[in-house]
Amino acid sequence: MITILAAIDKQGAIGKDNSIPWKLPSDLRAFSKRTQDGVVIMGRKTWESLPIEYRPLPRRTNIIITSQKDYYAPGAFITDSLEYVLNTVRVISENNVFVIGGAQIYEQAINHPNVTKMIISHVNTTIENPDAYFPNFKDDWVSNARTQLIHDTDDQYAYSELQYCRKTKKD
Ligand SMILES: NC(=O)c1ccc[n+]([C@@H]2O[C@H](COP(=O)([O-])OP(=O)(O)OC[C@H]3O[C@@H](n4cnc5c(N)ncnc54)[C@H](OP(=O)(O)O)[C@@H]3O)[C@@H](O)[C@H]2O)c1
Repeated sequence: MITILAAIDKQGAIGKDNSIPWKLPSDLRAFSKRTQDGVVIMGRKTWESLPIEYRPLPRRTNIIITSQKDYYAPGAFITDSLEYVLNTVRVISENNVFVIGGAQIYEQAINHPNVTKMIISHVNTTIENPDAYFPNFKDDWVSNARTQLIHDTDDQYAYSELQYCRKTKKD
């Protein structure tokens, strides 16, 4: 199973100036725990947005999608085909595979049949002048579980985490 992980604001924004426009340490801790020992798939810009000391994300197989043939990213796997990765990644890991952004990669992965789950942190804010958005998905996905509103003392905003699966015909 391949799962999309994302945090989005009330209008679907996910980024600004190639960074995540909020500080949610509890969400990052959950991300870290969830993806540990798994495979994380990301676009080249998201890779470059990670603090250098966290590249590659430790204890995870990092896969970067880029069209640049000579792209250099020590400790990560590079490929120019997201489609190929989504089709074949189960050879590396059956269930523990995560698409972690950014906007371009979400836009393509959300329609791939092997991507069957999304875990979205809905952040209780509206960012001014964002430049990266999560694709519209409400028509094709249905949420099946909701956590309580989370707002740890060090989190900038409250958020709630929803899990989604693809709608079936009867939904
Ligand atoms: N809130 C969240 O949960 C979250 C999570 C992750 C990222 N973000 C944010 O999202 C923003 C970055 O998103 P983005 O859309 O600008 O960038 P991105 O999706 O991270 O990366 C885009 C790059 O990926 C490569 N790429 C994309 N599709 C490809 C394909 N089919 N084949 C080959 N290469 C492909 C290209 O690299 P080349 O140009 O090198 O060819 C492209 O420029 C940042 O603000 C980041 O902080 C937010």
